[in-house]
Order: sequence, then C-alpha cells, then structure tokens
Amino acid sequence: MSALARESGMAEQMAAFGAEWLAAEPLSRHTSLGVGGPADMVRLRDLRCLPELIGDLRRRGVKWRLLGGGTNLLVVDEGLNDVVLHLLREPDALKFEGQRVEVPTAANLGTTVMQCAKRNLGGMEGLIGVPGTVGGALRMNAGAYGTQIGDVVRAVTVYRGSAGRVEVLRTEDVRFEYRHSSFAADDILLSVSLEPPEKPYGEILERIKQCNQKRRASQPINEKSAGCIFKNPPGHSTGRMIDELGLKGTRVGGAVVSERHANFIVNRHGATAADIFKLMDLIRARVRGAYRVELEEEVIVWRN
Ligand code: EPU
Repeated sequence: MSALARESGMAEQMAAFGAEWLAAEPLSRHTSLGVGGPADMVRLRDLRCLPELIGDLRRRGVKWRLLGGGTNLLVVDEGLNDVVLHLLREPDALKFEGQRVEVPTAANLGTTVMQCAKRNLGGMEGLIGVPGTVGGALRMNAGAYGTQIGDVVRAVTVYRGSAGRVEVLRTEDVRFEYRHSSFAADDILLSVSLEPPEKPYGEILERIKQCNQKRRASQPINEKSAGCIFKNPPGHSTGRMIDELGLKGTRVGGAVVSERHANFIVNRHGATAADIFKLMDLIRARVRGAYRVELEEEVIVWRN
C-alpha cells in the first residue's frame, strides 16, 4: 500500500497505542549517510503496545520495516511505501549476573563494550568504534578487528512478528555468519544475553585503545558514511582492490570514494542515494573487469 493510498486516521490510531505518527518523514534524517527519501514513520517509546500495534498494521495490510540506528543503511531517494517502525526506547540498564549480561537491544554498542570492560568482561574490544545499536549489530553480526558480536551471544529475546509473541532464542536457534544473521525480517530483537570472556580491565582497555587508533588511522570516522559499502569476497580485500584500481577520491555528484579507506563511500557534497548507487555500480564494474570478482553489498539497501 502506498503512503498516499493509506487510510486517514492513522495518527489517531497510533496515538491510541502510545505511538507517534510522522507522515512522509525524510529518512535522510535517520541515516548516518544522510540520504533517503520520505516514509511514513511510527515512533514508539513504550513497547508494551507493540503486539497490538503490529497486529493493527497487519490487519490494515500495511507493511513495515524496523529502523535501528541507521548506521548501515542506504535508502532510495524516492522514499518507501512501507511504514518505518522506529522504537525510541530509553535503554534499561545492563543487568550483570556473573559472566552473563542482559543488554537491551536499544543500547549503544560502544557503551555496552565499555560497561562490560569495567566488569572485566572482554572479547568485544574490536567493536568499540562500530556505530549503532546492539540490535543493529546483532542483525548484521557486526565485526571488526577479529571480534564479531555473534561470538559472545548466548540468547536473544525476540518479538516474532510472524508468531505474534515474544520468544527466547538460544545460540543454537540463531546462525551468525559474516555480516549476516538468520533472524527473520519481522523479528524485533528486544534484548540479548551476552557471555563475554573474563579479562582484566587493563588488558581490555589496552586492546580498545589499539583498535581505536587503527580505526582512526584507516577509516573516515568523521564523515557521513555507512561503514564499508561492500563485503569482502572470500580471499579478497575489497578496500585493497578499489584502492589498487586508483578509485580513491572518485566522485559522482556528492558521493566520493574515501581517500582514507576505499571501501567507504562518503557523502561529502550533499549526495543523493542515486549518486551513491552510481558510484557503487562504477566500482563494481571496475572490480569485475580487473579481478573477475562480483562485489556484494555490505550496506543494507531499502528500496520499494
Ligand atoms: N586496504 C588498502 N586500501 C584501502 C583500505 C584497505 O590497501 O583503502 C588494505 C589494508 O592495508 C589491509 C587490507 O586492505 O591490508 C584490509 O583493510 P582493513 O584492515 O581496513 O580491513 P577491511 O577488510 O577493509 C574489515 C571490515 C571493517 C572492519 C575492518 C577492521 C568488511 C567489509 N570490512 O575491513 O568493517 O572495521 O575489517 O577489522 O568486512 C564495516 O563492517 O562497515 C566495516 C568497516
């Protein structure tokens, strides 16, 4: 159902669930790349009404997508017909119990790594500079510098849109692969139980400092981007291939291949999503021609 065709009265109906209805909200405001056209957005702070709200959308035939931190997301310029669900939770405090910690998925990833470190729980140091929420990190199985979040997950509490109920999934129920997890599109991750290995705080801090330094030196952390734009194909480094082809600094409209890391596209001059897609196509074609390798998007693309 298109945004225009959607029946009126949505604002009132959503208000009854304690949610806010934002018609034609520009998604460029909600993505780290700073691009993306409009979509109707439902903002919910109190999740107690989530099942009713989703049930209502289903009855109306309204499709929805869940927005996390927007740090690994590329949204088309024309916007979306689906409703974007934005959960604006104030994350509850982390709950520590021995080596286990229960983390709300709305929590910031870096903050979570630091809070665990203070309890001598390590193994997640590489994730320190990865922007976004714990929920987003789980969905993508975010990783850096030898760490990936899936390695320390013990259980995930999920609202399963398909079943209409909350379920606790154990490690054996979820597959975490390179930048991919097996959660369903309509799974809403609520909280996660992590079991990070014990490590002295000083050692964790030292490793965190090293990772921060590496990241600062090799990634454009102060520019608008969505992190790496393509995955590394098995046996290849995408950044190195793009760099070797001399594509750093290549510009399409407002989108530029970062001079600092060739697998980052930065929005430097008011880029549109179309600029970014064109630049991605150019990179793909050059890499295909030179290396006979097909690049796969790492960034999540939202299109109709
Ligand atoms: N390289 C170049 N030129 C470049 C970039 C990289 O020659 O412009 C070379 C480096 O010198 C190095 C090799 O390519 O020898 C690998 O580079 P790097 O260590 O920067 O790692 P990466 O494989 O490019 C991956 C992840 C990053 C993560 C880093 C650090 C992917 C697609 N990328 O990058 O994750 O931060 O390792 O562990 O897996 C992301 O997920 O968004 C992301 C940025």
